[in-house]
Amino acid sequence: MIEKVGVIGGGLMGSGIAEVCARAGLDAVVVEVSDEAAKAAEQKIRGSLEKAQSRGKITEQDLAETLERITFATDLGQLKDRDLVVEAASEREDIKLELFRTVGALLEKDDAILTSNTSSIPIVKLGAVSGRAGHVMGVHFFNPAPVMQLVELIPSLTTSPETMQRMQTFVGETLGKQPIEATDRAGFVVNSLLVPYLMSAIRMYEAGYASAADIDKGMVLGCGHPMGPLALSDLIGLDTIRAIGISMYEEFKEPLYSPPPLLDRMVDAGLMGKKSGHGFYAY
Ligand code: 3HC
Repeated sequence: MIEKVGVIGGGLMGSGIAEVCARAGLDAVVVEVSDEAAKAAEQKIRGSLEKAQSRGKITEQDLAETLERITFATDLGQLKDRDLVVEAASEREDIKLELFRTVGALLEKDDAILTSNTSSIPIVKLGAVSGRAGHVMGVHFFNPAPVMQLVELIPSLTTSPETMQRMQTFVGETLGKQPIEATDRAGFVVNSLLVPYLMSAIRMYEAGYASAADIDKGMVLGCGHPMGPLALSDLIGLDTIRAIGISMYEEFKEPLYSPPPLLDRMVDAGLMGKKSGHGFYAY
């Protein structure tokens, strides 16, 4: 049974994943790098729960009970008794390798599962440094995690069938989400299709084809998407999209994955999208 969950990183994805787990009745620990970052994670979760309450999805009592089930910490040692850890730190291979080395060594339960929410870094490499490769796999949520139904499950060459089976049950039954399985290739299913589309929209804007608002309106009204590609890039985070595009380009050398210069410049300027208050739009 997976009852105690740990989440490494309380950014957009980490806080959303912790909220999803706590809303499913699980005990969740979120580990951040500083007290400030931990406080910000708590505020993000509270804000999302308040939104859910205002939309009638949960009651005031659900909100209070969900928050009670989440603990915030700055010490990775708090993860040692967990049944499952989901790593959702920055999309950087060096950071993730270090975390898998450390957390792999401190988990106390033999069958504890260690997963990454990465969308582009090879799972097999994370397993190799963890000392428990059979219990390591990818579990990729979508933003906003409390709303999006899909979770990609990515076993690597070294993941055991039991680990995959347990995660399928966890995602499908405990969390009530819809899992799909993908192989351990950068981008998995969704980002392999989504990233070239978002990069193409940014190139189109960069080349002056149309305004940001009209590019987005085109895809919302012309194709029935819930939001246009530039607004979606802002929602995901421009630094995140850029990091994913770079990893995918490194793996496949496909030019459509490569970040256009405008995206590089925006990230250099600190324009990260919604989370920084400015991207293709102001928030
Ligand atoms: N908790 C629970 N439910 C919530 C919620 C919350 N915090 N916030 C919103 N909701 C519910 C609303 O109640 C509503 O439910 P209903 O349809 O049953 O009434 C539904 O979610 C939509 O909410 P809103 O109409 O209020 O719309 P918002 O403006 O809040 O959010 C959106 C809209 C869900 C973001 C929608 O625009 C959307 O689906 N956009 C596309 C998102 C997307 O493509 N995400 C994937 C990104 S790719 C990714 O993450 C992978 C990474 O690796 C890059």
